[in-house]
Amino acid sequence: MITKPIPYGRQYITEEDIAAVVMTLHSDYLTQGPCIKEFEDAFAQYCQSKYCTLVSNGTAALHLAALALDVKPGDKIITTPITFVASANGFRFCGADITFCDIDPETYLIDLIQLEKTLASVPQGTYKGVVPVDFAGYPIYADRLRKIADKYGLWIVEDACHAPGAWFIDDKGEKNLCGNGKYSDITVFSFHPVKHIATGEGGALTTNNPKLYQRLNLFRTHGTTKDPKLLKQNDGGWYYEMQELGYNYRITDFQVALGIQQLKRLDWSLSRRNEIAKHYNDAFAGIEGIKTPVVAGNIFHAYHLYVIQVDDRKGLYDYLHANNVFAQVHYVLAHLISYYKQFGWKQGDLPVAENYYDHCLSLPMYPTLTEEEQDFVIEKVKAVVK
Ligand SMILES: Cc1ncc(COP(=O)(O)O)c(C=O)c1O
Repeated sequence: MITKPIPYGRQYITEEDIAAVVMTLHSDYLTQGPCIKEFEDAFAQYCQSKYCTLVSNGTAALHLAALALDVKPGDKIITTPITFVASANGFRFCGADITFCDIDPETYLIDLIQLEKTLASVPQGTYKGVVPVDFAGYPIYADRLRKIADKYGLWIVEDACHAPGAWFIDDKGEKNLCGNGKYSDITVFSFHPVKHIATGEGGALTTNNPKLYQRLNLFRTHGTTKDPKLLKQNDGGWYYEMQELGYNYRITDFQVALGIQQLKRLDWSLSRRNEIAKHYNDAFAGIEGIKTPVVAGNIFHAYHLYVIQVDDRKGLYDYLHANNVFAQVHYVLAHLISYYKQFGWKQGDLPVAENYYDHCLSLPMYPTLTEEEQDFVIEKVKAVVK
């Protein structure tokens, strides 16, 4: 019997997680204590990257990436419309001019063919960077994107907020974990409760570039440093220097105490999500009115979201909600949101993304979703789409 509402995503907090947070609350440090470095080291190791910087949320991470890359007003950058608006906003905070590129109809990620067409249609140097989003947990082929980026002189900030632990096999046959820094200059993650790792609010950036890492840390803490190697003058042990106009984008130790626990369960969470996706796929196989996710054989999907497409999306959304299944739409098209429409974006500009938006619905997907709940969701979907 299903009695409780079923959300599209939710956190999983154990008694051990709570104990870890409480222990930090009893400690000497509520912020800037030992948990931060412990998590940064563990997450860098998990992603196989050299450096990790923890921050207060994923949006702050995107903004920091823009600051570290010295994005200036009027710099042109490209991203996808199928994302949360923060992917674009982080760069808008620095005054960047955002171009939205259409998506691939199978992966729902930025379409590399359309991207190259856009880049080739303007003089070399027009665009400064690209922000691919590993939407739903599907990792971009970052090696292929890197080739395009190098041809046109772009940096890459990969928004992997949906995809910690996802990987793809590159064209050389090597396995590439999201955030390993091999192809992307910076990779950004979010630890919002619906994501794989929950810290309340929280985020991280990984990079292999020591200069960028240094700038990320500088901008995270008011643009200040106490590092004797970086100081231009040094009045004594107390001295700090503000070298850039930075922000306070730090995360607290008690949040990160939770994150450390959650990171230990990331692989379990990923395999649960893949099991649930398989259960949905099997249940919907052969139903013509439901398009299930198409995943290439050389991809490990992180399944932050499980998205289907149906003809009558509103009908299905309303029916599921009436039955306490809180399916969600990801996302309201970024280029047609009123803020971005002021720059001239209009219906018809990105037909593949717009068609996807008309039909998409994210079904409940989180590791503690029980088999009974999955079957309830399946039954309700099948009641509408026969
Ligand atoms: C793709 C994507 N990028 C960025 C963000 C922003 O992350 P946060 O909510 O941690 O600021 C989100 C969060 O929803 C997201 O889904």
